[in-house]
Amino acid sequence: MPLSSTLTGMRVLVTGGAGFIGSQFVRRLVESGDEVSVLDKLTYAGNRANLEGVEHRFHEGDIADPAAVERAAEGVEAIVNFAAETHVDRSILGPAEFILTDVLGTQVLLDYARHHQIRHLQVSTDEVYGDIPLGADACAEDAPIRASSPYSASKAGGDLQVLAYVRTYDVDALITRGANTYGARQYPEKFLPLFITNAFEGSHLPVYGDGKQRREWLHVEDHCAGIELALRKGEAGNVYNVGGQERENMDVVRRILDLTGGSPDLVRHVADRPGHDRRYAVDSTKLRNLGWQPQHSFDAGGLEETVDWYRDNREWWEPIKSGEYKQYYETQYASRLS
Ligand code: NAD
Ligand code: TYD
Repeated sequence: MPLSSTLTGMRVLVTGGAGFIGSQFVRRLVESGDEVSVLDKLTYAGNRANLEGVEHRFHEGDIADPAAVERAAEGVEAIVNFAAETHVDRSILGPAEFILTDVLGTQVLLDYARHHQIRHLQVSTDEVYGDIPLGADACAEDAPIRASSPYSASKAGGDLQVLAYVRTYDVDALITRGANTYGARQYPEKFLPLFITNAFEGSHLPVYGDGKQRREWLHVEDHCAGIELALRKGEAGNVYNVGGQERENMDVVRRILDLTGGSPDLVRHVADRPGHDRRYAVDSTKLRNLGWQPQHSFDAGGLEETVDWYRDNREWWEPIKSGEYKQYYETQYASRLS
């Protein structure tokens, strides 16, 4: 049943709320007048600074731990699950953590939703559809799941648990599948913040393979607006794609160099990612029919505003880049760049 009868003033548990998209979503719900609890394990990607100035109740813990979920979810009317291991390259280096959080953790949350008869919204990804051939139509929600990486396979495992819980136990659960998301506070391992911050530092920009891969770019506020709409108006058992604007990676790299003033000599074509998907493209008609209208254009302002945020907030990303990150960067890029 949609939750539109309780438009605001809901009590919501946001898991993974200290991450990039989750923290923006918490900010959005609080501004709408909802009461928000956050459950976050504070992995390398979780950052309490992302929630500074936002009123919420914070619980540090693992979504795969039923006792932690019981404590954090007490009294809530819905769970929105952002908590996940999220980076494809890290999943290639070690998939186990992805299964534990993205599959098992999702199942623990679903059990809570089942036993307390509350709504569960699963924040998933367009990557579960696998790559879409160039020239083929963007895929709708009934396209087959053809996950390519350990990351997307683990997200697909979570999605299938959600749909199984709806069918088997009649749980009020639904799924959004968002495109590549960009904006402030994204951990600088992902393509855009990695390349933007490297360009500011004068470091190399490691383009995988020929750089002709294509992604849809979705502003974090538009993504959160889509998730909020699905939470309040979506139907149980349904999947809603949240698409963006499709661009080739090398076009994005050129724009980043323009906006940061970085030298084209920084670009290095390096060994490709194993199993690299060439293209993602999703059809968001179903969410648009619920009333979703993205407000941000990637080319007219969206990317530029993001570059400006990283230029103005070096105190956010510089400490990240000097910690655990350095070890990861070495493992992932040292031999590629040598
Ligand atoms: P992120 O990596 O920035 O944040 C993930 C958050 O989850 C962190 O705060 C981390 O501490 C927390 N977390 C990880 N494991 C946990 C566990 N076991 N228990 C509790 N908390 C845990 O991720 P993001 O980019 O904000 O992505 C959020 C969600 O959106 C993910 O589910 C991801 O699959 C999905 N998604 C992301 C994108 C994107 O482009 N970033 C696109 C589509 C969908
Ligand atoms: P990424 O941000 O990891 O997201 P996705 O989950 O879609 O792979 O990467 C976006 C695109 O950028 C993808 O085609 C891989 C490419 N990429 C590089 O070329 N170099 C890099 O160092 C990274 C991290 C990504």
